[in-house]
Amino acid sequence: MPSPISAAELQTLSSKAIAAKEAAHCPYSKFRVGACLLTEEGEFIIGANVENVSYPVGMCAERTAFGTAVIAGHRRFKAIAVASDISPGVSPCGMCRQFMREFCTLSFPIYMYDKDGNYVVKTMGELLPDSFGPGDLPLK
Ligand code: THU
Repeated sequence: MPSPISAAELQTLSSKAIAAKEAAHCPYSKFRVGACLLTEEGEFIIGANVENVSYPVGMCAERTAFGTAVIAGHRRFKAIAVASDISPGVSPCGMCRQFMREFCTLSFPIYMYDKDGNYVVKTMGELLPDSFGPGDLPLK
């Protein structure tokens, strides 16, 4: 169960996710997505989508944030915010949902910000019901 997030943490999380849109490399879709992840240790780690001329090679903002956090040694997270330039805000794709599930319990909150800074929040379990998670693989 992730620790609850404070109003101050949510304010920082949202402003960093919105600002992270500036870091997007999206010359093909022109669709900027920013993300910010809050670790259990209280660090904020940003991500943005990074596209590629070979389209399927591109990477979503959520996965760049998680990948950056994981290689920095983080494994436990309190929340993620995702920001885009549309309304309602973008909801993580299926591949990102499974990627996040590796590191998130079913109660992990995903805040989705729209172009005006309004958000909808859903849990990991709501976005990926009946998921295959790390506890489901019988380890030898
Ligand atoms: N994208 C994200 O980064 N996150 C999402 O939640 C949905 C989509 C990116 C992938 C691609 O670079 C662009 O948005 C258009 O699909």
